[in-house]
Formats: sequence, structure tokens, C-alpha cells
Amino acid sequence: MKSSVYVTSPIYYVNAKPHIGHAYTTIACDIFARFRRMLLHDVKFTTGTDEHGKKIEQSAQNAGIDTQSFVDQNSQLFRDLLPFLNIQNDDFIRTTELRHKKAVEYFWEEIKRNGYLYLGEYSGWYDIRNEAYFSEDELVDGKSPLGGEVQYMTEPCYFFRLSTFNDQLIRFYENNPDFIMPLHRRNEVISFVQQGLRDLAVTRTTFKWGIKVPKDPKHVVYVWLDALVNYLTSNGYPDNAHQNKDEFWQNSVHFVGKEIIKFHAVYWPAFLMAAGIQPPRQIVAHGWWLSEGEKMSKSVGNVQDPIKYCKLFGSDALRYYIMREIPFGDDGNFSLENFIGRHNSFLVNSFGNLCYRLLSFIKTHSDGVVTKQRDFKEDDAIFAGNVDEALTEAMKAMHQYAFSKCLERLEDAVSFANQYIDKQKPWALKKEGNTIRMHTVLFLLLEKTYITTKFLMPFIPISTAKILKQMNIPYEPVILIKERIPVTVNIGEPEIVFTKIDPADLGTFDVFAND
Ligand code: MSP
Repeated sequence: MKSSVYVTSPIYYVNAKPHIGHAYTTIACDIFARFRRMLLHDVKFTTGTDEHGKKIEQSAQNAGIDTQSFVDQNSQLFRDLLPFLNIQNDDFIRTTELRHKKAVEYFWEEIKRNGYLYLGEYSGWYDIRNEAYFSEDELVDGKSPLGGEVQYMTEPCYFFRLSTFNDQLIRFYENNPDFIMPLHRRNEVISFVQQGLRDLAVTRTTFKWGIKVPKDPKHVVYVWLDALVNYLTSNGYPDNAHQNKDEFWQNSVHFVGKEIIKFHAVYWPAFLMAAGIQPPRQIVAHGWWLSEGEKMSKSVGNVQDPIKYCKLFGSDALRYYIMREIPFGDDGNFSLENFIGRHNSFLVNSFGNLCYRLLSFIKTHSDGVVTKQRDFKEDDAIFAGNVDEALTEAMKAMHQYAFSKCLERLEDAVSFANQYIDKQKPWALKKEGNTIRMHTVLFLLLEKTYITTKFLMPFIPISTAKILKQMNIPYEPVILIKERIPVTVNIGEPEIVFTKIDPADLGTFDVFAND
């Protein structure tokens, strides 16, 4: 039976413009989705925008526009980013859509009916920017632990019986050791739950911009409960009410930044359990990008604009750098200098060079034709074995969301090919008139380069498609380590696909969002 996978990005707040941090998560989801499609899995990939809450209401007021127009405009910016990044998503969900309102209302009624909600009163320090309450002892220098300004507020509200889920959650983490990836994040979550969970305030009365509580419209549903349900809405809930039997839901993977793990790995499974729905299959958390060494912020003026990168260097260059620079899960520093360095060293000098030198040699010195020959030497077996091993490890890394490790191993495969061509010297074989050996070498190189190129497709889909076209080998978009190419290949027109970036040519180009 065909495996299914449901890939989701966080839905992004529409009070700011999309930047490189948002692009990162969406690109990671897209690469993972493409990889699974190339394993012939049934993939559904959704992204979108989170549009309710006090913060959004206030941002609209500050901007002097009505809230609906404000969210419409800003949501569109996130939607418009997707083609620039070359994202193949199946859905784009907005929490202001009717389908989502229906889902949240239905979900609310379910957890209420199951006895997990009660009416009470809440007092505490509220961090507006991060939409969360904190107790006095959690404040840091008079601010919330997330850094936002706080104000003391008391309001009647509904509580969710989170405290009753302590043991059930711990048991769930124990029974599902790979629920939270990477693994070190799992320990943080477990120790947080072990400290004991308090019931959670899940409605607000201090603003209106949100989904009203069914039958008690003074109350607005807490923005995080509202937002998390998007993952169900996008999967057809509530019409598709039997999520436990749904193959996409059973194989759901939520990609998130590390700062929102608690919401996804603690609150969300508890909400779902309360509604009788099984938790998602996995939460995959990545680290945070700094920009040129500092936290990205409008006031510093160092917010990196992904569209600028795509317009100037192409989406493949950005996708490659962003996945290669830091191990997924770690924090890192986004810098134009490193971007250029990585681009030139792998895409141009290593991979681009391999493809072009191989194909143009075949074109000029073998009439554009390679045929399978069997004049094998020990070096050939070593080369083939090395590439196969690198590809096997790349595949394994991809299954573990270790994107940069996967790329490292693919880079190794490319280096093996470059070393092999240098050592076997097909130009010398040509000179000696040793055509059989020359074809043996070229065929093996073409086959291994072709397979490696296909492994690179999820990362750099545009340039790999060009290279595959130049190879002129009819292909299915499938990843297979032992794939074979036809015994005779009549290659197409070799062309240079990656061009070197010279910082001197960039002039006054800057990578920052200007407004
Ligand atoms: N709306 C919530 C998520 C709700 S999901 C049910 C939210 N939105 S957000 O706009 O703040 O986006 C947060 C996500 O954007 C992070 O979890 C992360 O995926 C991505 N990033 C935003 N800035 C980032 C960096 N500087 N670096 C890496 N990723 C970052 O939280």
C-alpha cells in the first residue's frame, strides 16, 4: 500500500512581513514533501497564516486600517512568497476562513462535551506580543520570559483541564520516542511536563478579533487553540471527522521553530486527546537564524528578505544555502558572505563543474554518445561503492530530517565523481584510442551523476531539471540508489547551469527588507 504523509508548516502571524526565518521552515517542508513524493508517497503539504488575536488587532489599528483589510493584505504577502521559493504546497489556510471557523467551533464543542472545559476567572501578566499569560515568578526584569511588555489583567474565562493530562502525555512520549525531533528537544518537553501542568486559560474577553465561543460570544477562543486546529481544518475536519482513521493524520509531521515546541508538543496533543483524536505523528523543530550575527529586527534593519535573494540568485541558491549552512535543529547565522561562499564552492565549482565537464567531454570527444561497456577496473568498483554508500547515508539522513547531513553526503558523492574523472582521465583514454575503457568510465560517471542529481532534486529542483534535460535520459521523478540508465545515451546540449557569484558585481545590492 502507498504510504501517506501530511506535512505542515506553522501558520505565520500576519502582523509582520515574511522574512528569511519564515522562508526557512516553508522551504524545509517543501524539500521534505518533494523527497517523499520522489519515494512515491502520497503527500499533502499545507502552509498558511495565523490571523486572529489581540496582537493582530493592535497592529491593524497602528497601521490605521480595518483589521480584515490588514490581514488580507499581509496574508497575501505570505502567499506571494511561495512561488518565489518554488514551493509546491497543496493548501494555503487562513484562520479567518469560514472552513476554519467551523472546525474550531466543532472542536470546541467536542472538548466541552467530553468535560475538559470549565468557566473560571483568570488573572495574570499578559504578554500581548506573544499572546500568553505569565505568573509573577515567571517575569524577567518586568517583562515576559519571551521578552514582551506585560500588563496585569483579570478576566472571566474558560479553562482547559490541561492538568489532567500530565500522566497521559508522559506515557505518550514514552511510547512514541521519536514524537519530538531532534531528540534533545524531547527531554526539554518531558521535563517541562514532569514539573506539573496547570489548567490553561483558553478564551479571552479583552478583544474581539477572533472566533467566538459557541453559545457564549463574549468569549473569544484563545489564539493558540484557534491556530493549532488549522492542521485539522486543512485535513478536512470536521466533515472528515474520523481523523484517527485518516492516513494523512496518522502520518502527520508538523515542522516548527524551536520557540513554539511547547504549544505543539504539549498543548496540542492534550487538546487532541480531549477531543478523542490521536496526536500528530511527529513534531520536527528547527533552530533560529540570526542575521549577520544579530537577532533579526526591524529596528536594527537587518531583516533578511528572501525575495531579494531569489530575484538575484534564484530560489535554488537560497534553498541550498539555507538547508546546508546549519544542522536542522541548531541555531545559525545567515550571512551574504557565507551564502556566496557555499554557492560558489559546491553549486558552481563542484556540482556544476562535474556536470558540465562530463557532458561537454561526451559531446566533443564521443559524438554526444555513451554506451555501456564492461572494461572494469578495481577503481570503478571503489568509486561506485563510495557513491552508493554516500547516497544510502543521504537517504537515511533525510528520513531523520538531517537536511544538512544529507547534503554533505550528496556533496561527497559529487566529490567522488570529480576525483574519479581526474584519476581515470577519459581525455587520455581518447588519445590512446582506448574507446572501450573510455566508454566504461563515462558510462559509470554518467550513471552515478544522474542518480546523484536526482537526489538533489528536492533541494534544487530548477537546476537539476536543467541538468537532467541536458543528460537527455528519460526519467521518472523517483529516488533510487541502484537506478540504471539506458545502455546507450545520446546526450543533449551541455550548458553551464550555475554561475559564480562575484561579490564585486553586487554593487549596492543589500539583502535587507527596506520597510
Ligand atoms: N502563528 C504562530 C504559529 C502557529 S502554528 C499553529 C507563530 N507565527 S510566527 O509568524 O511567529 O512564525 C513562527 C515560525 O516562523 C517559527 O516557528 C519558525 O518556524 C519561523 N521563524 C520565524 N523567525 C525565525 C528565525 N529567525 N529563524 C528561524 N525560523 C524562524 O509563531
